[in-house]
Amino acid sequence: MTDLEAVRRWLAEKVSSRRLLHSEGVLAAATDLADSHGVEAAPLQLAAMVHDCARELAGDELLRRAGEWELPLRQVDRISPVLLHGRVGMEMARRELGIDDPRVVSAVYYHTAGHPDMDIADKLFFLADHIEPGRGYERVDELRRLAAADVDAALLLAIDINLDYLSASGKTVDPDTLALRARLSGRNHSP
Ligand SMILES: [Fe+2]
Ligand SMILES: [Fe+2]
Repeated sequence: MTDLEAVRRWLAEKVSSRRLLHSEGVLAAATDLADSHGVEAAPLQLAAMVHDCARELAGDELLRRAGEWELPLRQVDRISPVLLHGRVGMEMARRELGIDDPRVVSAVYYHTAGHPDMDIADKLFFLADHIEPGRGYERVDELRRLAAADVDAALLLAIDINLDYLSASGKTVDPDTLALRARLSGRNHSP
């Protein structure tokens, strides 16, 4: 069952109208990026409707569901359970809607923190989450221009904007983000 409108109704029951609007914005941005970079848009449109479906669950509920469904848990997930929202949300979509297209799964999994194994579609989806029309932070227009021109350079900028935000707000950095940053900037990283 991959009817986009049905998935949108499913999402509307799980999140606030503000987050629904964000998800629709991600859908629009992902469609534009996919079209302009020659990537199939349909899996990313589905990912847009799924990626934040668990974003409004409390940390202890994210941990509870991850435990019940036996999702792999890292130390950093226990410290900062919000990092689980993509993986828990994908599992909800798999269980409730039967969505298991690996292109949707990887885009949703990697949207939260990035990952060195991202393919071009995952990267475009990550960028779409950051540049959708509802975003208004400083440098978003610079990121929008770069996303149209140079995907890896845009991803590096998006990560650096994230890292600045995380460090300013004292939040936990996912090691996958640092590994991706090292990959993009051409340095080796330890596994
Ligand atoms: Fe998210
Ligand atoms: Fe999002």
